Amino acid sequence: MADSTVMEKLVSLCKRRGFVFQSSEIYGGLGSVWDYGPLGVELKKNVKDRWWRAMVHARDDIEGLDAAILMHPRVWEASGHVAGFTDPLVDCRQCKNRFRGDDPRIKGTPGEPDAQCPVCGTRGSLTAPRLFNLMFKTFMGPVEEQAAVVYLRPETAQGIYVNYQNVLNASRQKIPFGIAQIGKAFRNEITPGNFIFRTREFEQMEMQFFVAPEAASEWFERWREWRMQWHKDLGLTPARLQWHQHGPTELAHYAKAAFDIQYEFPFGWQEIEGIHNRGDFDLTRHQEYSGKKLDYFDQAANRRYVPFIVETSAGADRVALTTLVDAYREETVEGETRVVLGFHPSIAPIKAAVLPLVKKDGMPEVADRLYHDLRAAFPCFYDDSGAIGRRYRRMDEAGTPFCVTVDGETLNDGQVTVRERDSMQQVRVAQAQVDAYIRERIR
Ligand code: GAP
Repeated sequence: MADSTVMEKLVSLCKRRGFVFQSSEIYGGLGSVWDYGPLGVELKKNVKDRWWRAMVHARDDIEGLDAAILMHPRVWEASGHVAGFTDPLVDCRQCKNRFRGDDPRIKGTPGEPDAQCPVCGTRGSLTAPRLFNLMFKTFMGPVEEQAAVVYLRPETAQGIYVNYQNVLNASRQKIPFGIAQIGKAFRNEITPGNFIFRTREFEQMEMQFFVAPEAASEWFERWREWRMQWHKDLGLTPARLQWHQHGPTELAHYAKAAFDIQYEFPFGWQEIEGIHNRGDFDLTRHQEYSGKKLDYFDQAANRRYVPFIVETSAGADRVALTTLVDAYREETVEGETRVVLGFHPSIAPIKAAVLPLVKKDGMPEVADRLYHDLRAAFPCFYDDSGAIGRRYRRMDEAGTPFCVTVDGETLNDGQVTVRERDSMQQVRVAQAQVDAYIRERIR
């Protein structure tokens, strides 16, 4: 299957099965903004829940935070985003398409007569690159004037930095410690695309770990290892994960060192998470711009310092896309194509489907009771329409790991058939044991 075909099939499946819809579709859609449907919202929530459990609940050195999207405009001056969060923008005067100045498809130097538009092929039609700030602006209060400009945050990290002392004092943590946050971020990307890979509104899962300056490199290495393991534990194929180290020209203005975790998408190896050693850049800048001291007093060592920060920053939408791409497969079973989303059971939107074999002979009543019992423990789906084979296929396509079928025998022996999605193997399980059986396997 060609790589572009995989993405096309996935986008179509996501719409058909209610994972992801185009935003404002009935109005023709809004560029690179997407909505999550019933299955998609569960998938993304499961990804975020796993991240929160690993980063906050399973550790006693990380606290959670939920900072507002709107922040004081000076925050973005201090962070460097007003001056430096820009992309070079190039227009084609001929076909009116717009590109990033560093688009590898552009031949020649934009603005020069030799430069060739990658879409219409015209020579000399590309403008010289203009710097374009990626932050969305809006106005606070009734008057739309420069003094009222506020930004939609382009990253969640700054909400953590400005709250670092609040959290430190309220939680009585000591350095080394971290603050974790999941929240929306907005970037007016010039060339968004590849479905939910690069969008203008997205969610980040970021953690900032505050450490003594001399300990930063060591913590950086630890976080690199832990974060890669987290993606593997999500069920992603290890061979499709790799590290990419930022060279000196790639490093963001705040970073002393940076590694990306990349995944091999159908459109190439791409970043899904960044791990950065940000040094003392952020707190020093906020100290300078706010006039408030943000250093830390280490009582044991009797010394003051501005903490260094090791950041782990992943996109929830990008990780959700990664799980979809990694899970998608087509198989031929008895001469027919079976489409499967082979999610790790812990992130599957629906954990089990309950299916009465036929809609008579007391089977629907038993199935309905079982469905309500199981629904109290995990997300379930009840389906009594169509041939059983077709119902199994529908659940395979939704990524549901278990189908529980109530048949004629159930009424005699109190057992049901549990069919496992990947192996398609079926086992008989006592009705009273189904909950425990599935729970053990989705953990
Ligand atoms: N605080 C650091 C920071 O924001 P980044 O590399 O710009 O670093 C971190 O972004 C992660 O956020 C990326 O690895 C990606 O998963 C996600 N991300 C960034 N821009 C995105 C976009 N336009 N659409 C979807 N996810 C995005």
